Amino acid sequence: MRTQVLIVGSGPSGLLLGQLLAGIGIDNVILERVDRDHLLSRVRAGVLEQGTVEILDEAGAGARMHAEGLPHDGFAVAFDNRLHRIDLHALTGKRVMAYGQTEMTLDLVEKREQAGLTTVFEAANVALHDISGKPFVTYEKDGQSHRIDCDFIAGCDGYHGVSRKSVPEGALQSFERVYPFGWLGVLAEVPPASHELIYANHERGFALCSMRSMTRSRYYIQCPIDEKAENWSDDRFWDELRRRLPEASAAAVTTGPSFEKSIAPLRSFVAEPMQFGKLSLVGDAVHIVPPTGAKGLNLAAGDVRYLFSGLREFYADGSMAGMDAYSGRALARVWKAVRFSWWMTTMLHRFPEGGAFGQRIQEAELDYLVHSRAASTALAENYVGLPY
Ligand code: FAD
Ligand code: DHB
Repeated sequence: MRTQVLIVGSGPSGLLLGQLLAGIGIDNVILERVDRDHLLSRVRAGVLEQGTVEILDEAGAGARMHAEGLPHDGFAVAFDNRLHRIDLHALTGKRVMAYGQTEMTLDLVEKREQAGLTTVFEAANVALHDISGKPFVTYEKDGQSHRIDCDFIAGCDGYHGVSRKSVPEGALQSFERVYPFGWLGVLAEVPPASHELIYANHERGFALCSMRSMTRSRYYIQCPIDEKAENWSDDRFWDELRRRLPEASAAAVTTGPSFEKSIAPLRSFVAEPMQFGKLSLVGDAVHIVPPTGAKGLNLAAGDVRYLFSGLREFYADGSMAGMDAYSGRALARVWKAVRFSWWMTTMLHRFPEGGAFGQRIQEAELDYLVHSRAASTALAENYVGLPY
């Protein structure tokens, strides 16, 4: 079998790229390790930048997001028992959209199915071959081996995927920071504590009030890195969350049974370059950010934008200029989001080794942030997404 672009992974980046390519007549096949139900049951990110909203529209997958997503003009930073609003729209002219990654993935999967495009779910032992020459990919499905030849491979298979590992040893340089804590997250069918997100710095640790709709809330609390989700009953979670919020916000939390509870570790990771031969690495396959600031999914969509433009140029006029520029263009934006996520994480969490000096610096940073229009604007323009 042959295709023009072979996409490994049907997370948001692989699906979005596939849809954009199909829209301009470029043939593509997606190979995905897990089954369709598993793919659509993952709970992950929840806030889309305006640029991500626009590219979903360009892919023709934005209708339900506009109908059901919640546009947000601002959010609150909480400390000292008070909320301080960051007015994103007044400071930048832009807003963000609360819409779950799970829903966005479903919209893209359905769009792909309606268009009759090929996705091979439960593709086992995916292997990339001759990535600097005439690339092809092999995999197994139902005990049979298969081979697909292609012009280009897009490695959209996340941090644990096979694509990054297929680049020869020594050709990639990695940069990493692991944070000494995780996030314990719950999803519950209850109205959110506030119509906007609340990022709370508290002596007991960070807390975040987010949402998926006006009847479904997503909450996170900072927890020790070795914590186990099963040690947290719903009651224990709600009590801890409320202790970390200003009193008025705590009183507004509606509790109820959670239907998802999990712990995510926090790390920053970048591998450079994002391209090797005919293989382009996209999204979590090549960079990870801590979730503070909701950049992971949006960065993946940004990479797709750059790669799509390179592929479109190649198939329109045979020029490799856009493809050759992919890694440099994407990395320039990636590193700014890596910096921003690291900074927000540093400002809002309790660091075990921070000490009294670190504590005072954090308090000064928060006070400066909410009282300086320049500092609030710097936060806001990163939060809504930097230009492409
Ligand atoms: P992924 O979504 O990881 O998709 C990769 C796909 O490739 C998967 O479907 C996987 O099954 C498939 N795959 C993997 N290996 C192979 C293989 N060998 N062969 C074939 N297919 C393969 N971001 C935020 O902004 N806010 C959050 O709250 C947030 N929470 C998160 C919680 C968790 C537990 C994780 C893991 C991530 C979270 N993120 C969050 C980050 C965000 O979800 C990611 O940045 C986003 O999913 C990146 O999309 P992607 O398509 O690049 O990768
Ligand atoms: C969500 C996650 C984030 O990391 C964030 O900064 C905002 C919202 C969420 O899952 O809703």
